[in-house]
Amino acid sequence: MNNRKRLGILTSGGDCPGLNAVIRAVAAHAILTHNWELIGIPYGSQGLSERQSIPINAQSLNFKGIDPLLGTGGTILKSISKGYPEEQEDKIIAGYHDLGLDALIAIGGDGSLAILRQRAQKGGWNLVGVPKTIDNDVAFTERSVGFDTAVSTVTEAIEKLSFTASSHDRVMVVEVMGRTAGHLALHAGIAGGADAILIPEIPYSIEKICTTINQIQEILGRHFAIVVVAEGAQTPDGESRTYTDALGEVRLRGIGEYVADRICLASNKELEARVTVLGHVQRGGTPTAFDRLLATQFGKAAVDLVASEQYDRMVAYQCGKVTSVPLSDVIAKGTMLLTPNDSLVQTAQAIGIYVGEL
Ligand code: F6P
Repeated sequence: MNNRKRLGILTSGGDCPGLNAVIRAVAAHAILTHNWELIGIPYGSQGLSERQSIPINAQSLNFKGIDPLLGTGGTILKSISKGYPEEQEDKIIAGYHDLGLDALIAIGGDGSLAILRQRAQKGGWNLVGVPKTIDNDVAFTERSVGFDTAVSTVTEAIEKLSFTASSHDRVMVVEVMGRTAGHLALHAGIAGGADAILIPEIPYSIEKICTTINQIQEILGRHFAIVVVAEGAQTPDGESRTYTDALGEVRLRGIGEYVADRICLASNKELEARVTVLGHVQRGGTPTAFDRLLATQFGKAAVDLVASEQYDRMVAYQCGKVTSVPLSDVIAKGTMLLTPNDSLVQTAQAIGIYVGEL
């Protein structure tokens, strides 16, 4: 009996550093340890529906080509972060079977994994998920691939901005990604030495931000301040700041500008503020050592799940160990948000960082 598996792998949703390290670990373990065939499916689900056409073309991967990719950012498999029209769904579902796959490893965030699980249920796929996102908002895993690198990138940016803020006695407002979750803003804000961190999960007051900045001047004699704002933080009236791009897509952006203007006005124009929107630089760069280790462990664990035919699960990082959880639990839980009781929120507050109205 031939038990050589044919395993598919794809990346779905927004990219992040560490995806190639997952692909490399999966390839090493699947091809070298198990002698399985590994099929790289390009452009996420689109590669399943248009697998016969060029340039989209699912193909057998060999480890030699993937081996050098450990420290590279992005994804060699490409990715798409948009939905598909209903009529394409059947084609995507059939793609798994047309490719003769025994199982599929999908590297995605909570949104992608939820959609892929629906397809798996409908189409009888054997699916294993690997969590990735700089937002770190996938439930039941304390870390997703890419988050640690993004935290380092934002931390470095905050530090760089501190020097120019200091030269001009300015308030630097730094708008960071994260969608509706404040993990990236909170971690990088603390690591970078921010004075105020505004996150979607906790309401804030502009007056209190100004009070914090004034206290820094009075107590520490420091005449600049750093305010980190998560892109999903709302105005005190509960409005999200967005813009609509040329394609009609609504995107989060602008809360940094709002906060900077309000700080200036609330201080009777005594505080001069500037805004930096870090944007996609947060998704770039080479993965940190932590992300490479996490990605490698996740890739190995995902292959182990396939080997033991434990499907419909997601690999996860809990209490310093790699484990796995049912995908149904991850999806039922939804986006993992911060709470005021989170230990990092408490730590920030305890050391004098303004984190909103707790
Ligand atoms: O989910 C990751 C993320 O980078 C968010 O933090 C951000 O809001 C969004 O993706 C940006 O998406 P896109 O690359 O499609 O503009």
